[in-house]
Amino acid sequence: MATHQTDEVTRERVEQGECFVAVADEALCGTILFKEVGRTGGCHWYDRDDVACFGQFAVEPKLQANGLGRRLIALAEARAAATGAREIALDTAESATHLVSWYMRLGYRFIEHAQWTHTNYRSVIMSKTLQRSVIG
Ligand SMILES: CC(C)(COP(=O)(O)OP(=O)(O)OC[C@H]1O[C@@H](n2cnc3c(N)ncnc32)[C@H](O)[C@@H]1OP(=O)(O)O)[C@@H](O)C(=O)NCCC(=O)NCCS
Repeated sequence: MATHQTDEVTRERVEQGECFVAVADEALCGTILFKEVGRTGGCHWYDRDDVACFGQFAVEPKLQANGLGRRLIALAEARAAATGAREIALDTAESATHLVSWYMRLGYRFIEHAQWTHTNYRSVIMSKTLQRSVIG
């Protein structure tokens, strides 16, 4: 869904959380939107009071596979821990099996399916438990 949204929709979504950007040579080359507990919603897992999430996640194609995506996720996870969440969740298209596998390698597990009103595909909700040592 985030691949073809208008600037106005991007602005609305960015206002729903904390938007981080990666910049190289003064050019935007990556982004992730972190939403703390209480700002997520729309499915059973996102409605929980201990779940943060991230979305609007992308890296400039020619810079992909260099670890930037992993660093952006680590940033969102750190914000989730710092803001008191027990879990950080994400959703992606069920058909994006390469992404689902990658998120599993990063410690995320399958939670449930979701059917958003604005998409014509089913999504998977995945989540990672934040370590107590990270939560402090
Ligand atoms: C998902 C995305 C943000 C990841 O960013 P990235 O900077 O490439 O991420 P990283 O370099 O940290 O890691 C990418 C992983 O995919 C693997 N990968 C990257 N390109 C690959 C390719 N062509 N074939 C196979 N594996 C590939 C990397 O090896 C790495 O796996 P690892 O961490 O186990 O080594 C980026 O691919 C992207 O912008 N995709 C399009 C938008 C999108 O799908 N966003 C997510 C929506 S839920």
